[in-house]
Amino acid sequence: MTKIRIWLFLQDYGGVLALLVAITATLGSLYYSEVAKFVPCTLCWYQRILMYPLTLILLIGIIKQDEHLPFYVLPFSLLGMGVSTYHVLIENGVISHPTTCTTGVPCSLRYVNYLGFITIPLMALTAFTLITVIMIATHRAFSHELGGDAGQTAVSTIPESRSAPYAWALLLATVLVLIALWALAAFRSWESNQALTTTAALGPASGQALFQQPTFGTAPGCIACHSLDPGVAGVGPSLSGIAGQAAQRVPGQSAGDYLRQSIVAPDSHVVDGFAAGVMYQGYEEALTKNQIDGLVTFLLTLE
Ligand code: HEC
Repeated sequence: MTKIRIWLFLQDYGGVLALLVAITATLGSLYYSEVAKFVPCTLCWYQRILMYPLTLILLIGIIKQDEHLPFYVLPFSLLGMGVSTYHVLIENGVISHPTTCTTGVPCSLRYVNYLGFITIPLMALTAFTLITVIMIATHRAFSHELGGDAGQTAVSTIPESRSAPYAWALLLATVLVLIALWALAAFRSWESNQALTTTAALGPASGQALFQQPTFGTAPGCIACHSLDPGVAGVGPSLSGIAGQAAQRVPGQSAGDYLRQSIVAPDSHVVDGFAAGVMYQGYEEALTKNQIDGLVTFLLTLE
């Protein structure tokens, strides 16, 4: 009986459930880019291209009560899972940063990092997986041919599903991918926390090494956005000669204080020609006090 109820529920509301996930993902993504002003990277754009149309496709499928809806939705959600998986693997250093990601912000840049590992691509992967799972189950529900009054009469004579076992295999595979990547991200975050707590005091040389590091565990490295060559702006300004400029940026603030402030609270002073909110905002948590000291000491040598 309950089994029948689930199938009937999915026939009626499977599309609606998937639509809710797609709308949440779309609004979340628009919030991050339009309100929080995070710049979407190349791979983020591919995920947006695959997620946004789903809101309309699902809506039309629901209005039309189209039982073929899963066939229109699954190509998008499965491709979306592929792109998000690739993105999560780059973020966690399993795949090296590809050349596709050289324009705009680096794809390994993490703007959002809840609990140290829940990033935008991981959330996108979760949304694409949920939509995929709901759509596969909805497809199964429709292929049960329950008919109008199945709930009352056909309990003992549920026809065996016409859909092949591939549907369950696919469903299991998608859920396993999701669990594996969550586990990977959580493990990487734990690993980098271990590394952070064992770091000793740092001088300018280790400050420089730190500056050149591509990532700090889960946070982006400085070199991802800043060049040390004069006049070469990346996502952020060139830091060539920053020691001299730092002393003049904010009246009454010493170069050292300004540099420390620029790292832990980048929006407290925004350099002309650059936008607020673009520099990674979480360095106070991502780096130890020693590491921040080391970076400041190094930057002060850039006369
Ligand atoms: C996501 C890109 C990004 C990353 C990563 C990043 N920054 Fe920045 N940074 C910016 C942008 C954009 C600005 C200019 C806007 C502002 O002042 O906030 C900036 C400004 C600065 C400034 C002020 C420069 C000036 O001319 O006054 C300093 C200093 C700085 N960053 C240091 C660092 C250090 C050190 C790191 C690594 C711990 C780092 N940044 C990581 C993007 C980034």
